[in-house]
Amino acid sequence: MNGDPNFRDQVTESAEVLERNALTSTLNSFLVYGKAAHANLTRPRFKAFYSLSPAHQGLLQPSYTEHLDQIDKAIDSNASFLRLVAQYGANEFEAPQDMREWEGATAFQVDQTRSTIKQIYRDWSSEAASERDICYGRVIRALNNIYDPGNRASTKVLIPGAGLGRLAYDVACEGYVSQGNEFSYHMLIVSNFILNLTTKVDEFAIYPFIHTFSHTSTASNQVRQVTIPDRCPSTSGSETGGNFSFTAGSFTDIYGRPDAGPEDKWDAILTVFFLDTAHNVLDYIDVIRRTLKDVSSSDEDVYWINFGPLLYHFEDEQNLSDIGGAANQDKLSIELPLDILVSMVERCGFSVEVLETGITSTYAADEKAMGKWVFESVFWVARKLPAVA
Ligand SMILES: C[S@@+](CC[C@H](N)C(=O)[O-])C[C@H]1O[C@@H](n2cnc3c(N)ncnc32)[C@H](O)[C@@H]1O
Repeated sequence: MNGDPNFRDQVTESAEVLERNALTSTLNSFLVYGKAAHANLTRPRFKAFYSLSPAHQGLLQPSYTEHLDQIDKAIDSNASFLRLVAQYGANEFEAPQDMREWEGATAFQVDQTRSTIKQIYRDWSSEAASERDICYGRVIRALNNIYDPGNRASTKVLIPGAGLGRLAYDVACEGYVSQGNEFSYHMLIVSNFILNLTTKVDEFAIYPFIHTFSHTSTASNQVRQVTIPDRCPSTSGSETGGNFSFTAGSFTDIYGRPDAGPEDKWDAILTVFFLDTAHNVLDYIDVIRRTLKDVSSSDEDVYWINFGPLLYHFEDEQNLSDIGGAANQDKLSIELPLDILVSMVERCGFSVEVLETGITSTYAADEKAMGKWVFESVFWVARKLPAVA
């Protein structure tokens, strides 16, 4: 540790600069979405069309060119929605007023913006209700089986990796004290917009399916509009009883602090499509265990309820990392098969009381597409055991 106070100031300052750059480059990725989408999606396809023989161009006109025109219009509509979100996000997250100070967006961030549009559809549209019911619905039903309605107002439920906040919001609507946690600015800016700034059901239209041309059954399916939100959190405050909050930052940093006191502990933790985002899933299990209330001092049992696949997010990066030398912590990935993972959950102080595997589930999938990713997810309800002396 460097004891020089100037050194500490410099470290704090550079952390602040990094944080501000992460915020402003994300905001920029919303602002450049439209330009990038026209450049990547429709322009090359029009170019390809005009390179075809006159006979083929004639055959494809007008159906295909009109379809591309519709996609251009849908891009413009998504872009104006994202501009509005960025405008509110800049205010709420206190980005520098002078946009010349904003960091440019990377291609990866623009790609994340496209994925975010699909996640808005997943969390906040009525069309994705059946996808949500398989994961969020199952987890909430398990929670409600444990806690009677009369006890819920004093039951604290934490949702790490909360994405766009729908599960955390629905848990609050069931009467619990609910807190979502997220570290991605894409998620934080958009969830803040939907949770606090939308004013009515179906206020906005988005076009989530225009970014993929494969697996498209009809032109109209690809450019179909989805309205959001299907429930409006800001006008239904009474449903959550005000017991709903969100924290920004890494789950392990915020909740894994060694000085966490009893007031920082939770009755239940819900993880959905989250465990496989870890570099080392044992870190998550460790923090989940420590963040749940101490069982010996609690009248009630405390639970960790989990749902999701094992699509380890850092597997590819580790596969591509250099051979030789020490493991690079940014690329490190511990990918446990499910049987070993479940045995680790038990060895780390939980009794797995419900375990279901092979649950067919999707993530932001287009129901009308001709092909989609389907996960065989796992679901468990694990009770925290008293610490062994
Ligand atoms: C696959 S998404 C799932 C989101 C949501 N639970 C759902 O089911 O739609 C995983 C989420 O976890 C977030 N995440 C990943 N690592 C995190 C960490 N260490 N702390 C907080 N959030 C994290 C990501 O930003 C992402 O939004």
